[in-house]
Amino acid sequence: MAMGPVLGIESSCDETAAAVLADGRRVLSSVVASQDDVHAPYGGVVPELASRRHIEVITPVVERALAEAGVALGGLAGIAVTQGPGLVGSLLVGCSMAKALAWAHALPLVGVNHLEGHIYAAFLTDDPPDWPFLALVVSGGHTALYHVPAPRQYRLVGQTRDDAAGEAFDKVAKLLGLGFPGGPAIQRVAGQGDPRAIEFPVANMTDGARDFSFSGIKTSVSLHVRRHGPLGERQVADVAASFQAAVVRMLVRKTVRAALHLGVKRLVLTGGVAANAALRAGLAAEAGEHGLRLHVPPPRLCTDNAAMITAAGAERLAAGERAPLTMNAVPDLALA
Ligand code: KG4
Ligand code: ZN
Repeated sequence: MAMGPVLGIESSCDETAAAVLADGRRVLSSVVASQDDVHAPYGGVVPELASRRHIEVITPVVERALAEAGVALGGLAGIAVTQGPGLVGSLLVGCSMAKALAWAHALPLVGVNHLEGHIYAAFLTDDPPDWPFLALVVSGGHTALYHVPAPRQYRLVGQTRDDAAGEAFDKVAKLLGLGFPGGPAIQRVAGQGDPRAIEFPVANMTDGARDFSFSGIKTSVSLHVRRHGPLGERQVADVAASFQAAVVRMLVRKTVRAALHLGVKRLVLTGGVAANAALRAGLAAEAGEHGLRLHVPPPRLCTDNAAMITAAGAERLAAGERAPLTMNAVPDLALA
């Protein structure tokens, strides 16, 4: 896609991010300011603190993205911003910034669905997927399977009935005293443990649906900790490894089954939890066995960033889509 540089802004949760892409796919800069230090003392994201930190850092983050790309505001072809889903106070900071810049510099503006952004991370690699494909989006707020038959078309084929996968990682890490964010902590500790040490149940929907559920595993871990606690270092590692293995088993099984049922030959794995090495390896192995091509962005593009938002937004701008300056944040914006 021949296209001038596009600036993208992401502030849906607890990362303030800005990126500049050329031709919709070439990353000229990608700046991510993490708020982990703000929320770690509370063991989870505190919405009011998140929006306050976004306000403090958004201007320097955008300035740095432009400087690193060597692009001036007047030289942009457009601006993309995450419109939803996410925390409303957080989303508003990015949307206000994007609208102000678009108005001041008379630039085209487009709103992007955060989940579509996660899927577009797969297009920022040397091996982008072709349509149709099945995308497993696993993050702190979402766990969903989308059938993507053609560009910008999404059909929801399965989702979590309770917690998101990342939420389960974060809660179990808290139970094990491993800190926030929980996903990377579990992965680190699980490396020292035995994934077969404890048999945690993998929810199998009795109605055969392609939905996911994580509350059962979370409760089992909680009961295990209460029954056997206080746990030593070795036991914590075994619980972390067994929990991670159970989550991977469920995600892999449901995703591959859905792909075979739909007759789709390509898989995309994305979202913060897709940074997990066990999940990447588990899905790669199972996909290979069934002749499915798996596309997984590198970990830094799986977790929240603005490059993925810019990629999705650039494609919408190229298709002629424009958001009015009255565009607003939509905390429960749906993709399908
Ligand atoms: O996509 P993301 O950065 O933000 C949301 O849109 O939610 O995902 C964040 C989630 C958190 O729950 C975090 O614990 C999880 O992704 N995560 C991981 C790993 N890295 C991040 N979960 C498992 N293993 C990881 N290596
Ligand atoms: Zn995300």
